[in-house]
This record gives sequence, C-alpha cells and structure tokens, in this order.
Amino acid sequence: MKQQVGIEAITVAVPRRYIDLEDLARARGVDPAKFTQGLGGLEMAVAEPGEDSAALAASAAAQLIRSRKVDPVRIGMLVVGTETGVDHSKAVASYVQGMLKLPPTMRTFDCQHACYGGTAALNAVSEWIASGAGADRVGIVICSDIARYGLNTAGEPTQGAGAVAMLVSANPELLALDLGVSGTFSMDVHDFWRPLGRREAVVDGHYSIQCYLDAVSGSYRGWRTRALARDLIRAGGLPSEQLARILYHVPFCKMAKKAHAQLRRCDLEDRSGKPLDQTAEAEETPRAAASFEAQVAPSLGLSARVGNVYTGSLYLSLASLLQREAAGLAGKRIGLFSYGSGCVSEFFSGVVGARATQVIASAELDRVLSERERIGIAEYERIINLPPDQPAAAPTPPGGFRYQGTKEFRRTYA
Ligand code: HMG
Repeated sequence: MKQQVGIEAITVAVPRRYIDLEDLARARGVDPAKFTQGLGGLEMAVAEPGEDSAALAASAAAQLIRSRKVDPVRIGMLVVGTETGVDHSKAVASYVQGMLKLPPTMRTFDCQHACYGGTAALNAVSEWIASGAGADRVGIVICSDIARYGLNTAGEPTQGAGAVAMLVSANPELLALDLGVSGTFSMDVHDFWRPLGRREAVVDGHYSIQCYLDAVSGSYRGWRTRALARDLIRAGGLPSEQLARILYHVPFCKMAKKAHAQLRRCDLEDRSGKPLDQTAEAEETPRAAASFEAQVAPSLGLSARVGNVYTGSLYLSLASLLQREAAGLAGKRIGLFSYGSGCVSEFFSGVVGARATQVIASAELDRVLSERERIGIAEYERIINLPPDQPAAAPTPPGGFRYQGTKEFRRTYA
C-alpha cells in the first residue's frame, strides 16, 4: 500500500488578550454590524509585549510535543511559516529550537510567502517524509504571525495573532494528504505587502479580495483536473459538492463565503461552458448560501474569535472544524485552499483520520480560548502604540514562552 503522509496532531497558541469587535466598532464610530456581519468577526487577538511570533510559535510547539509525547530525537525537520519573523536573517525555527532545547540533528528553516508560508512548510515536510528521506522521523510545521494594519485603517478589524503547530508524519491521525493532487495559481501583484522596515502591512483591500478570488478559480480548477484523473471525485454533479467540507484561508470570515461562492461558480460555469446568466445567478444564490452553511461555516469558529493569523489561518480552520465535527468526518475527504498575497495559492485535499476526535481533544482548544482576557479599546491602543520589540511585562504563563529583551543584538526568551 502507498505510504500515507499528513497531519498527525495540531495545537494552537493565541495571545493572552483580545478585544471585542463591537467595542472596536463603537470606538471607531462604525455600525457594529459591519464588523460582525459584514466581515463576520466577533473578537480579535491582541499580541502584548513579549508575545512575538517566535514566542507564540514555541508556545504552540511546546504543547504539541508535550501532548503527543513526541520524542525530540525523532524530529528530523522543524519548519516555520511566517511573514512576521523577528530577524532579517535568523530563522524563527532556530529560536524555537533553542527555547524547546530540541536536538541539533534537525533541519530547521523558515518559509516566507505572505500567508502561504505555512503551506509551503507543510509541503516541504510532507514531501520529505513521502520521499523516504525522513526515514521514520517526523517533522514539525509551525505557522506563526502577528497581523497589523494600524489604528483607524480599513484593515484594522481584520488584524489578529496566533500560532498553529502541526506534527507531520506517516501516521496522519488527523488528515492524510492527497499528495500530488493539488492545483496552484500565482501572479505578481501588489494586493498586500510589507516593505522592509515597516511593521504595518500596506494593502489594497478590495483589489486583494479580487486577487484572492482569481486564485480560488485558478487553483481549484487545477486540483479538480487532477482529482478527477486520480478518481478522487467523479464526473457529474458539482465536483465541489463531493468534498465533505472545504476550508479556506480566512483573513476575515466573510472572505470564506465569497471564496465558496466563487468555487461553485467555477463548477457551474465550466459545466455549462458559459458565464451564469441572471436566471442561473438567482437560482444559485440561495444554493451557495446553504452550501456555505453546510460545507464551510463549521470551520470558522476559531477565526471569528482570533482574527487573521496569516500563515496559520487555514490550519486554524482545520482545528476548528475537527473540534466541532471530527467524529462525523472520519474517512471523508475535505478540500483546503491556501492563499498568500503577492500572490500564490494552492488547493489541495485530504482524508480525515479515524482517531481525529481523540487527537483534537488533546489540543484543548476550549481551554486555550477561555484563558484569554478581554481588554478595552484604550488598552488595545496603548499596546499598538508601543515601540517595537517591547519585552514581556506580564509573567510567562506555565508551559508558554515570552520575549524578554535584546542584549548585544541577541534576543532572549523565557
Ligand atoms: P472596507 O472597505 O472598510 O469594508 O474594508 P466594505 O465597505 O467593503 O464593507 C465590508 C463588508 O461589510 C461589505 O460586505 C459591506 O456590505 C458590509 P460585502 O459587500 O463585501 O459582502 N457592511 C455591512 N454589513 C452589515 N451592516 C452594516 C454594514 N456596513 C458594511 N452596517 C476590507 C474591507 C476587507 C477591504 C478591509 O478590512 C481590508 O483591507 N482588510 C485587509 C485585507 C484583506 O483582508 N484582504 C483579504 C484578501 S487578501 C488575503 O487574504 C491575504 C492576507 O491574509 C495577507 C497575506 O497573504 O499575508 C490579507
């Protein structure tokens, strides 16, 4: 039998504090419904001093290793996807290695391409295992970011922060990847970027939505062709409806709804060979809404409460979905869409494992969220206005890590 490769376990670390998006809307003089219904968010994580992308990454990975009792000598690769690293040269992966005292025999590096960096890391590790080069070892992929657009900007309610760590192995108890069956789509565009030296991203918001939707069509069509050729799906009906659930990169929850409508439009237009006319559009709108509720909405719970975590966003959706529905999804195929501005995207798929319910329980996602503290907008603004690289002011939580300061250009963590 062909070797299975994929995600064996997943854990999440989020900042200790968050704001309520209705509080933010009121402070900005905006109708709260714009943020909660128009963008689909409820809460937004706020990274406080000490919670940089390396500290969050190490906190998520520490829980992964602890909860799965991973023997560190079995870890052959540690790859971090991030677009908000802490050094122009030194990898976040090296900082994590140091904080967790992981062995020197690992291959460690970071992957960067906006929010796609986590998927690039997952591909690197899963292909390493599938090639046989891993030789019975496992890999750890961490996606860790802090999304910042700045106060009083259109992007402000779509910020967030957090890290997702994944154990990738030949024992994919959560999700066995359909390796070799993916569609990719990329373009050279300025939809969202962060010039050197800037902490806040520059974004052409509405254009970025269009780039994302073009990428959905391009990468989904590539996946569909390969999935049909490999008999993962059948011709006839809507191919996208044969996927039990579809996960998207979630910069804000409404984006997943737009993406899903686009994906269905691809199926419908390609089947009829022409763009939808007015009658077909009118028939499709309620069907797309119902399909979104069934196929996509169950994965959005964590994103609505944490915000955009950039590289980890798609995998936060995976954790969210499995927490809610793993039992009913065992043995079923789901689709995943990863997007990174600039831009590159990939549509891929995998089959949920029979032990996913037990494995996701060990991530203790309810505890991770319930331990957070809600803060007001004045405190959020104070934190955002602090100069960069502030050391932790609050004590480091048990099992977690915080940035403690820089001595002679050397960052220290505890
Ligand atoms: P905006 O222009 O202020 O918002 O910013 P809007 O006017 O477009 O309104 C947003 C939605 O709220 C609309 O819904 C309104 O109708 C609705 P839609 O028409 O789109 O369905 N609305 C209301 N609903 C209910 N009650 C109301 C109300 N008022 C309005 N009273 C924008 C929106 C997303 C542009 C902004 O937040 C932004 O720039 N965000 C950052 C960019 C972004 O997230 N882009 C997403 C695609 S690119 C991507 O995903 C990559 C990324 O993750 C980075 C990476 O790859 O590293 C960002």
